[in-house]
Amino acid sequence: MAQGGVMTKLVVIGQGYVGLPMALRAAEVGLSVVGLDTKRSVVDALNEGRSHIDDITDDELQAGLARGYSASDDPACIAEADVVIVCVPTPLAADGGPDLGAVEGAARTIGEHVRPGTLVVLESTTYPGTTEEVFAPLVTASGLTVGVDVHIAFSPERVDPGNKVYGIQNTPKVVGGLTPACTAAARDFYARFIDTVVEAKGAREAEMAKLIENTFRHVNIALVNEMVRFCHELDIDLWDAIDCAETKPFGFMAFRPGPGVGGHCIPIDPSYLSHRVKARLGYAFRMVELAEEINHAAPLYVATRLWKALNERKIAVNGAKVLLVGVTYKPNISDRRQSPADPLARRLLSLGAELSYHDPLVPKWLIEEGGRVAALSSVEDVYDACGAADIVVLLQPHAIYDIDRLANASPVMLDTRGVAGESGSVVRL
Ligand SMILES: NC(=O)c1ccc[n+]([C@@H]2O[C@H](COP(=O)([O-])OP(=O)(O)OC[C@H]3O[C@@H](n4cnc5c(N)ncnc54)[C@H](O)[C@@H]3O)[C@@H](O)[C@H]2O)c1
Repeated sequence: MAQGGVMTKLVVIGQGYVGLPMALRAAEVGLSVVGLDTKRSVVDALNEGRSHIDDITDDELQAGLARGYSASDDPACIAEADVVIVCVPTPLAADGGPDLGAVEGAARTIGEHVRPGTLVVLESTTYPGTTEEVFAPLVTASGLTVGVDVHIAFSPERVDPGNKVYGIQNTPKVVGGLTPACTAAARDFYARFIDTVVEAKGAREAEMAKLIENTFRHVNIALVNEMVRFCHELDIDLWDAIDCAETKPFGFMAFRPGPGVGGHCIPIDPSYLSHRVKARLGYAFRMVELAEEINHAAPLYVATRLWKALNERKIAVNGAKVLLVGVTYKPNISDRRQSPADPLARRLLSLGAELSYHDPLVPKWLIEEGGRVAALSSVEDVYDACGAADIVVLLQPHAIYDIDRLANASPVMLDTRGVAGESGSVVRL
């Protein structure tokens, strides 16, 4: 796509789950795109047409390369760019606070190369105030003025890995600039390849919008993960109750219990917000702290229920053959970051269980607990493995699984997702 007859040059910094799809979508509509990443192995693989992201096939990447997309680890390309988008990771630091190292690193690199007239957008999820207080000063370190020489905005990424309905083009994009001119520049840019662009009042509101979305999910998942415990004690099928509640056509949104939360967003982003509230205002964001406590305890509750199910069959956890089925953080994707399978596996190892697992998307899995290390490979035939186990725990119902066949092959199957039909061998969480 050309602006004033000139091809727009875009640099997308960070070529992971968020940055690569964004870069390829922009290339699709005719922008000249460089995907900048500090990992040489990622850059080489991308330029050879090998995708490391579930949502992007090798064919889609190769089509992008043919359209002019390329990957690089040379930040000199920033000096040529009209627009720079930053999609680098924002993990938690060891103390549980925000680790903005990658955001600061990217901003510093931009500051060293950026030329006047560039639009710079931060997309990494972070606490409100980051764009203005941390990002912009590094980007403008050479003396550029925000809103005049360089436009700076925040636009939260809303990618939902594995979602076949909502992708970059049809998911509305929120933009908030440091000045009204920055907001307008970001709006005009994204409107070229995203159907709906929503203007926030400013960067803080755009930053906050993302944290509201993820905190909402975190809190509501915690609500049902707490309810599932007492519903079990009260002999109430919570999944059935939620199915009934969901028939109300207004004022209700269904969340269902599970083995815990995972991924790069839900377990991490609300902590950014609670950390900010504590650091700035000195008090706790109690809803988030409670949700964290409940959702972090969810995998350990699964271990307790496993112990109970084995106990009813007069089998000790120590020495029991336990098969975990689906160890990613959600179905049908290979991302294992923060997967609840890890704390569950560590607890089972510490109790002396003999662990095995099946996951078509995870060929190998290393679990360490205290002095114990289990270097596991996914079992070949999941249905045979169910028959050989003392108990099977269904964690992620990947689409390839025939759930009834899994249940029928298992002596007992602990169904943490409420997806198996009622049969003698199935125990719902
Ligand atoms: N994965 C998701 O589903 C998702 C959804 C919404 C928002 N987000 C947010 O988007 C951001 C990126 O997440 P992701 O999942 O794409 O991460 P990712 O780990 O998949 O990819 C990040 C990439 O950035 C590269 N990188 C790190 N520091 C860099 C630097 N200074 N310069 C250049 N490249 C650098 C890494 O090598 C990596 O390839 C995070 O803030 C995350 O919270 C992620």
